[in-house]
Amino acid sequence: MSALQYDFGMIGLGVMGSNLLLNMADSGFAVAGYDLDKNKCAALDESASPDKIVKGFFDLNEMISSLQLPRKVMMLVPAGKPVDDVLNRIVSLLDQGDIVIDGGNSHYTDTLRRVNAMQEVGIHFMGIGISGGEEGARSGPSIMPGGDLKAYEVVKPVLEAVAAKVNGQPCVAYVGMGAAGHYVKMVHNGIEYGIMQLISESYWLLKKGAELSNDQLHEIFNKWNEGKMKSFLIEITANILMQKDDITGSSLIEMISDMAGSKGTGKWTSQDAMDMGVPVPIIDMAVAMRDLSAYKKERGEAAILYKSGTLNIHHTEDFILQIHDALYFATILCYAQGLALLYRASEVLHMDILISEVIRVWRGGCIIRAAFLDDLTEAFQGNNKLPNILLDAVLAEKVMSHEKSIRSVVAEAALSGIPVAAHMAALSYFDAYRSEHLPTNLIQAQRDYFGAHTYQRTDVGGSFHTEWKQAKP
Ligand code: 6PG
Repeated sequence: MSALQYDFGMIGLGVMGSNLLLNMADSGFAVAGYDLDKNKCAALDESASPDKIVKGFFDLNEMISSLQLPRKVMMLVPAGKPVDDVLNRIVSLLDQGDIVIDGGNSHYTDTLRRVNAMQEVGIHFMGIGISGGEEGARSGPSIMPGGDLKAYEVVKPVLEAVAAKVNGQPCVAYVGMGAAGHYVKMVHNGIEYGIMQLISESYWLLKKGAELSNDQLHEIFNKWNEGKMKSFLIEITANILMQKDDITGSSLIEMISDMAGSKGTGKWTSQDAMDMGVPVPIIDMAVAMRDLSAYKKERGEAAILYKSGTLNIHHTEDFILQIHDALYFATILCYAQGLALLYRASEVLHMDILISEVIRVWRGGCIIRAAFLDDLTEAFQGNNKLPNILLDAVLAEKVMSHEKSIRSVVAEAALSGIPVAAHMAALSYFDAYRSEHLPTNLIQAQRDYFGAHTYQRTDVGGSFHTEWKQAKP
């Protein structure tokens, strides 16, 4: 193919990059790829079907100059310095009006910095969240583009063609200004952490508490995946529980170390939520539990020191149903916390995030896709200004009809010593959020007592300080 003929370029041909590029080629686009690793460039050509226009370039300059104007280039490289390194290399090869997309999990503050730096040289820079893992990239991910709206209009046909489809609608939508794409993806991942932690707690209640076998657990999660908990994460949990280990022949899950890794996006969500003043305790707990899981040796010592009694809890159909309903309740609360953060961040950072569009995009292709998001879509239809989905009357009924179950499950877990931190965080948040009065009046009094920090009264406006009668420290 001669120069200036490719529709789209990809820098970074890891599994995500090459799969997404092959997906574009399947949709009829002529695509070009580049990677520092020449084997990956060669592998790209080999994996493309003969009738598709796909070319791996060994030379970055050649790849960039083979693209149609305005060039559309995506980077799918590890977040942080590699993104800046690629940008520094390509900026002199680009023309004004070209579009550069960062499709990785970059921190939104880096994206904002890059948007501004590229704007100065006339290049449109967009941060786009892409979810769905390797398989999603190949067959249809969920795509969360943000930033320059005009640039989005140019790349929209490509993104719509490759995105997952729900009821014929592509799971891609412009989510907001500036670094909104990466902000939304960060919160997606925070919710992902929360739900994964919640599911792992349900699994533990059923396994350690009710002493069910992995086969029974597989059946239960499979059944849950046919009802209102239908979701990607429940589906893969069911599949994981029936996977055998090639080496020992036993269940693979038994052979996997309980020290959980992370790349940091859940932590970023918690950190940013703290900065925004938005409580997201389920996500906080999910991050904390992954951190705690790394303390394997200390946990071993503490297990001897604090030997627990029997962990058994009732193994009845009723209790299994309660665990299901508690998970449903807590999962709604997890989305509520993440979306409340988006709502606030959108205001603070002037991103104009369309929450209804975010929910629509999350219905297919992404890791947190769930049947339950259809209910949320209804809640948000015509109401983008709901600060917290828990204030939606229809959703409130669904939450309340599962409240008893989570109370029973959390109580039973507490009495049995089974750790269910995220479920507890969900319930505590719920109880506090629906309390018109909280004991924080006492905190205000204490602050004023020892530090003259003042307080507001319940009857008249203004700030007050009291010379408290008892001795000060
Ligand atoms: C996705 C995933 C993806 C990645 C996570 C894993 O939406 O496709 O979220 O981005 O798998 O970043 O994150 P941890 O390694 O931190 O669990």
